[in-house]
Amino acid sequence: MRLDDFLARELAARREAGLYRRRQVLESPAGATVTVAGRRLRNFSGNDYLGLAGHPEVRAAFARAAERWGAGSGAAHLVTGHQRPHHALEEALADFTGRPRALLFSTGYMANLGVVSALLGRGDTVFEDRLNHASLIDAGILSRARLRRYAHAEPTDLDSRLAGEGHGAKLVVTDGVFSMDGDVAPLSELASACARHAAWLMVDDAHGFGVLGPGGGGSLAAAGLGMDEVPILVGTLGKAFGTFGAFVAGSEDLIEMLIQAARSYVYTTALPAAVAEATRASLALARREEWRREKLAALVARFRAGAAELGLPLMASQTPIQPLVLGEAGRAMEVSAHLRDAGFLVSAIRPPTVPRGTARLRITFSAAHEEADVDALLAALEETGAAA
Ligand SMILES: Cc1ncc(COP(=O)(O)O)c(C=O)c1O
Repeated sequence: MRLDDFLARELAARREAGLYRRRQVLESPAGATVTVAGRRLRNFSGNDYLGLAGHPEVRAAFARAAERWGAGSGAAHLVTGHQRPHHALEEALADFTGRPRALLFSTGYMANLGVVSALLGRGDTVFEDRLNHASLIDAGILSRARLRRYAHAEPTDLDSRLAGEGHGAKLVVTDGVFSMDGDVAPLSELASACARHAAWLMVDDAHGFGVLGPGGGGSLAAAGLGMDEVPILVGTLGKAFGTFGAFVAGSEDLIEMLIQAARSYVYTTALPAAVAEATRASLALARREEWRREKLAALVARFRAGAAELGLPLMASQTPIQPLVLGEAGRAMEVSAHLRDAGFLVSAIRPPTVPRGTARLRITFSAAHEEADVDALLAALEETGAAA
C-alpha cells in the first residue's frame, strides 16, 4: 500500500469513529482563564493545580536564570549538560521527598520509560494497574519484561497475580492519583501485597505531589508511607509545580543505577537550567503556601456538592481531577463544544486515553480559580444537560 493511501485510510477511520484529535492554539499563558481564537474562556482543563505556572516569583526565577545560564543546557547530563541549577534542584527534591537522592529527567514520560527499562528485562515481570498512565504501560512494554495488568485499584487481584509468577524480578507500578479518574491508589494495600511477594513498588505521583498530604508531599505522605514500602517514587514538574520536567526519588543506589542504565536519562539533552531554577522557586512556594491546597480542596468540595445537587454523574475522586463520564465519544465532544460556546474550556477525553464507552469531560480545578468560576461552571453544566 502507498503511504498516502495508508494515511488517508487511517485518518478517515479515526474521523468516522469520532476519535480524531485536534490541537487548539492558545493565545495566552496557562491560567484560570485562557484565550483561544480571540475568546476568553474559563479553563478547567489544565494541570496547574496550585496556580504556580504564572506566579511572579517563578517567572522572575526563570528570567534571571535564563540571563545567567542561557536558553539551553548544551548537552546530556553525563556529558556537559549537568549544571549547578540541575544539581541544586535535585537536592531540593530529595529534601522535599525525604529521600537520600533525586534524579532529574526531562519529562515524566521519559522518567517512567527510563526507570522500568533500567530495572527490568526479559524474564522479569511488571504488574500494572489497568488504568495506569500510558507512559507507564509503554515503559513496561519497552522493558521487554512480561506485562501483567491487574484490575483497577484491586490489591487482591494484584496479590493473586504476584503469587502466580515464580521467577525473575517483580515490579509493581501504579499512578498515585489516577490521571483520568482522579482517585487515589490503595497504596498501603499494594505495599503489603508487594511485601508478601518480594516485589518492588513504584509510584508515579504526577498528580499527587503538591496537592495531597502535608506540605504537598503527595499521596505517599498522605498515606504515611516511606521508602521501605515504596522504594521508587516518580514525580513530574509540569503539573502542580507549574514548570516542566520530572524526577525520580529513592536510595543512593537506585539513583546511581538510573544514571548508569536509564537510556531516556543518558541519551538526551538536559532540560534548560532556567527551568530548574524556576522549579526551585515553585517548589518552595508549593511547600510553604498551604492556603493553595486549602483553597483547592474547598473549590473541589464546592463543585462536588453543586454537582450532586444537579444529579451529575460524579466519580469517587476527592482530588482536583473531577471527571464527568458521558459514555460515547460523540456525546463528550458535544457537551465540550456546548461548554465552549458558553465560555468554558473543558476537554473531552476519549479512547484510547480512557476505556471504550467511558468518554468523559476531565474537569480539573486550580487554586487560581475562584468560587464564582465553580458556580459558573455548574450553571453551564446544568444548561448543557450534562446530567441527562
Ligand atoms: C500519571 C502521569 N505520569 C506521567 C505523565 C507524563 O509527564 P510529562 O508530561 O512530564 O511527560 C503524566 C502526564 O503528562 C501523567 O498523568
